[in-house]
Amino acid sequence: MRIEVKPLKAPLGAQVTGINLSSSLTQDEFNVIHDAWLKYQVLIFPDQKIIDEDQVRFSRMFGTLPEKAVHSQGTKSGQQLHKSVMLVTNIREDGKVIGSLPDGEMHFHTDGAYERNPYRYTMLYAIEVPRAGGDTLFANMYRAYETLPNELKQKLDGVEAEHGFYTGVDVSEKMKQALRIDGYDGKAIHPVFIRHEETGRTALYVNRLQTRRLIGFEETESRKILARLFEHSEQTEMIYRHKWTPGDLVAWDNRCTNHARTDFGPDERRLLLRTTVQGVKPCAAVSAS
Ligand code: SIN
Repeated sequence: MRIEVKPLKAPLGAQVTGINLSSSLTQDEFNVIHDAWLKYQVLIFPDQKIIDEDQVRFSRMFGTLPEKAVHSQGTKSGQQLHKSVMLVTNIREDGKVIGSLPDGEMHFHTDGAYERNPYRYTMLYAIEVPRAGGDTLFANMYRAYETLPNELKQKLDGVEAEHGFYTGVDVSEKMKQALRIDGYDGKAIHPVFIRHEETGRTALYVNRLQTRRLIGFEETESRKILARLFEHSEQTEMIYRHKWTPGDLVAWDNRCTNHARTDFGPDERRLLLRTTVQGVKPCAAVSAS
């Protein structure tokens, strides 16, 4: 099998074929994937037949995994999954959700922005998907920065923002309840413009689901600017929309992408396995002026 990387007809993303993630990767395969990831930001590996241990082995090649996947029961029908794997699912057993982030729409966000050291990468593997809805949208946050009006680039140069656990300025009570986020209050402050530690490129680092405020701005002004940043980064020309097929493993770089989930009905079943790779505290981009 020869590994092939094919860019998507989209503002970010590439499809990777000719690779079997149920076996260990060679160093050459790792290099091809790592290079493609830095270039395309989101990688789609279709038709994979893997178990949780395979996903953990693949994820570990890119860094350290959390000891235990946070906010996750980590079980499926009584079967214990690897402790670094989180179930993203709306499936209920005996009336109780068996995983995390269960129901419906999620606004744009980047994984772990509410932590001092957000996740570098996320890998999501689809087992069951809805007949309609539950797509994942990815936004190119390099492009979002590069296409910002100069006036905003200057105003926000050196500014930081506060992020909370799915408690951004625009999050409704309904969404909080659907995502079951009670009982955790992680929050962190990061630069609005960050420097990607590997590519050196600048990315916009705010999002609708987690960003609460801009530091040093009065509340109304902070809300007004954030609304402009969200609208700008969520335009269709920044976005790739992934419609899931069982067997897809989608892997994204949280340092230069935001992602969101479209709504889906309560009668649909959605079951995915998630792993995350630990990152470091984001650094401010070098001043544009
Ligand atoms: C996530 O934000 O990690 C989950 C995204 C999804 O369910 O599509």
